[in-house]
Amino acid sequence: MITGKTQVVGIIGDPVEHSLSPPMHNAAFKHLKMDCVYVPFHVREENLGSAIEGARSMEIKGLNVTIPHKTGVIPYLDEVDQAAQLIGAVNTIKFTENRAKGYNTDGLGAVKALEEITPVKDKKVVLMGAGGAARALAFQLVLNRISELTIANRTPQKAEELAGDIHSKLKFSPEAIGLEEMELSSTDILINTTSVGMYPHQDHPALVRREQMHPEMVVNDVIYNPLKTNLLKEAESIGAETLNGTKMLIYQGRESFRIWTGVTPPVEVFERSLMRTLR
Ligand SMILES: NC(=O)c1ccc[n+]([C@@H]2O[C@H](COP(=O)([O-])OP(=O)(O)OC[C@H]3O[C@@H](n4cnc5c(N)ncnc54)[C@H](OP(=O)(O)O)[C@@H]3O)[C@@H](O)[C@H]2O)c1
Repeated sequence: MITGKTQVVGIIGDPVEHSLSPPMHNAAFKHLKMDCVYVPFHVREENLGSAIEGARSMEIKGLNVTIPHKTGVIPYLDEVDQAAQLIGAVNTIKFTENRAKGYNTDGLGAVKALEEITPVKDKKVVLMGAGGAARALAFQLVLNRISELTIANRTPQKAEELAGDIHSKLKFSPEAIGLEEMELSSTDILINTTSVGMYPHQDHPALVRREQMHPEMVVNDVIYNPLKTNLLKEAESIGAETLNGTKMLIYQGRESFRIWTGVTPPVEVFERSLMRTLR
């Protein structure tokens, strides 16, 4: 029940109606009997500044930020944490006493999900893609001390830009290549952050075929719709361990929830709600 004391968090984006976050967070508030509600807010680019000011004025407790505002929102904040500064994108805002602080929990969530399967420290990683998800993952993987990073992208220039940014900020030198140059014989972890294989294009051939993989590698696709992409099917067919994008989504959301409330909700509550929505 919404009362006079109910606290509000939410998500801003354009579009926002496909977001899977409202049911996950509201399920956790219900489970934990917290008097809070999570609401989607459709915010167009030209209204981003006034939306943040409005949220401050109305004492909204926190916001998630999704496409296309993750970078554009930064100038409207008072402070930005280290990960968000490195990545250059914010997906979580916490408002306290009229101050707005930005965080990025995407990379944290993705690496936490991976670490349930394998520690990333000292691992050789190949990351496909150089967009927003790739940036978040690449910086967090380097912060978690992987030994080698290769960024492979359809547009190699974008891979080079990301590699250059990582080098200048973290003094770590990723290799930047085109997708057709990938060589995976010594790769420990292969991650897809491109949109190839995502609904409604799930029949698109995987960017990597089983012949290029080996059974000791972990293959992670950050796509969660479908749950099993062609890339993961190829990996499974040779006995490699696989991970889809649901855990990344769950862990980034849990970390946002913790930032706003100080409480870490049970994974199962987020997971049950997400699976119900995805089905
Ligand atoms: N699990 C999660 O929590 C989570 C979170 C964020 C994103 N995601 C998923 O991650 C994917 C990417 O999101 P994003 O925000 O990073 O998008 P983005 O910034 O638009 O980046 C898209 C990437 O996909 C590549 N790409 C697109 N079409 C391609 C094609 N036909 N062949 C080869 N490469 C292609 C792009 O390459 P170019 O540079 O050459 O264009 C670029 O590297 C989406 O599927 C999204 O759903 C999942």
